[in-house]
Amino acid sequence: MDQDALKKGVAQAAIDALRAHPTDQLVLGVGTGSTTEYFIHGLADIRDRIDVTVSSSDRSTALLEALGFKVVDLNAAPRVDLYVDGADEANHRLQLIKGGGAALTREKIVAAVAERFICIADESKRVDTLGAFPLPVEVIPMARSHVARELVNLGGQPVWREDVITDNGNIILDVHGLRIDAPLETERHINDVTGVVSNGLFAMRPADELLLGTQQGVISITA
Ligand code: 5RP
Repeated sequence: MDQDALKKGVAQAAIDALRAHPTDQLVLGVGTGSTTEYFIHGLADIRDRIDVTVSSSDRSTALLEALGFKVVDLNAAPRVDLYVDGADEANHRLQLIKGGGAALTREKIVAAVAERFICIADESKRVDTLGAFPLPVEVIPMARSHVARELVNLGGQPVWREDVITDNGNIILDVHGLRIDAPLETERHINDVTGVVSNGLFAMRPADELLLGTQQGVISITA
């Protein structure tokens, strides 16, 4: 099976998990990215179980609305029962690198509110140590050079994703060359740099469950 087929399979497994969820009035948090887009398309099959959705990006909002789902502002949501989203890397503690699609800040906010976070990913995303995937950092534009110097001091090589402005009007620096042995500390350290909005490490709020699409089928890993 190619990577796309694995993504479709794991998205379908998340749909099956939602079908079995005890609540039929789900307030569903929806992530961003190609795996999540397969999931969004699959939601049409379980429409009756979903009350409203909360989205982590303008792109996912547009797709959800095109399929007829109600998308509410997080501030207006009574709660978020479940958040389903992809990842760029996941370690054995279900700590993640996210933000390949530049939606990391909103993804982090929805994940922070969610009762349960199910990460959906194909097996290529599973790693022993985070950091081979360049770590995305969302930065206030005027702080770009300052933040880049601080990231170099941390041992990384930041590269400005020049063609991207986030949904929040900011820029992304992708930090190459970091071997992240202590994800919690690295997440906090980068957050402390003035001008950083957020970074793509999900260590303070890891996933609760990782559904991993493998050649042998979808496996569920819990922390
Ligand atoms: C977007 C993300 C995505 O979840 C991550 O990049 C994985 O994307 P894909 O499912 O396309 O491989 O964090 O900001």
